[in-house]
Amino acid sequence: MRHLLNLLDLSQEDFFRILHRGIEHAKNRKLAPTALADKTVTLLFEKTSTRTRLSFSVAVMEMGGHLIALESQMLQVGRGESVEDTTEVLARYVDCVMVRTHSHRKLEVMSGLDRLPIINGLSDRHHPCQGLADYMTLLEAGLDLKNTTLAFVGEPNNVFNSLALGALHSGSRIHLAAPEGYPIRPGIRDHLQKKNVHLEVFQDPSAAVKDVDVIYTDTWVSMGQEEEAEERKAVFKPYRLDDELMTKARNDVMVMHCLPAHRGEEITDSVMDRHGPTIFKQAENRLHIQKAILEWIFELI
Ligand code: CP
Ligand code: NVA
Repeated sequence: MRHLLNLLDLSQEDFFRILHRGIEHAKNRKLAPTALADKTVTLLFEKTSTRTRLSFSVAVMEMGGHLIALESQMLQVGRGESVEDTTEVLARYVDCVMVRTHSHRKLEVMSGLDRLPIINGLSDRHHPCQGLADYMTLLEAGLDLKNTTLAFVGEPNNVFNSLALGALHSGSRIHLAAPEGYPIRPGIRDHLQKKNVHLEVFQDPSAAVKDVDVIYTDTWVSMGQEEEAEERKAVFKPYRLDDELMTKARNDVMVMHCLPAHRGEEITDSVMDRHGPTIFKQAENRLHIQKAILEWIFELI
């Protein structure tokens, strides 16, 4: 049984199979209209979502499957039923569950039971579906991933972790620009070091973006961190993608954002609008890549 909790769950071959299949789906929205004909997929959200909710919903519909989207507060798990018992019950009704959760540990408990395939739709540690859509976007834009340097400017949180683990497969080089006190997680660093992924950590964002192919940012205040909002906005202010920082990068640099963007915080209107075609293509690609992820999870590719 397959699970997708983070990008370490994929072999390099599976990683590229999913990316290329996503590109085929992007070229033809009706590529596999009956692939999920006998499948019911559940989406379970502990946090809000626009892209993940809609892209999985549309993907399941366009592949002929059935979909049940739920908020965890609607379920007994929201008032104390165990994750184990909930998983056992889900396994008796549906074929796969995508979960967006505050606690990555919950996903590990669910997948450890091996009762139905589990897809991580974002946890406090990883966002593998986003990472796959991002590498698909780069491949689609014609980049040679092995010869690509990505500079992530901001907090090395879930989105950064998935981008970084993706580099284990893609061979891309990673720069991280983050303030003191917001280090890369040791586990992620260890995985990159073990596989000799080129990782450079900077405090100065201007140095991090120099000569890179791609600059990536994410919110300074992730879901669940709202209490630290004021402190974070002050600490991360020098890491804003604005016109001045962009003068330190190559003219042809690509700018990426997983969205939702907090315009005026991690990215200005000007940078966001100039790079809208890439950023909204990333969002669109969530749909195409979810189709490929679902095909992989059900062992159809
Ligand atoms: N990028 C992303 O996961 O967006 P949502 O939070 O809207 O799903
Ligand atoms: N780091 C952000 C990503 C949102 C898609 C969060 O966890 O809220």
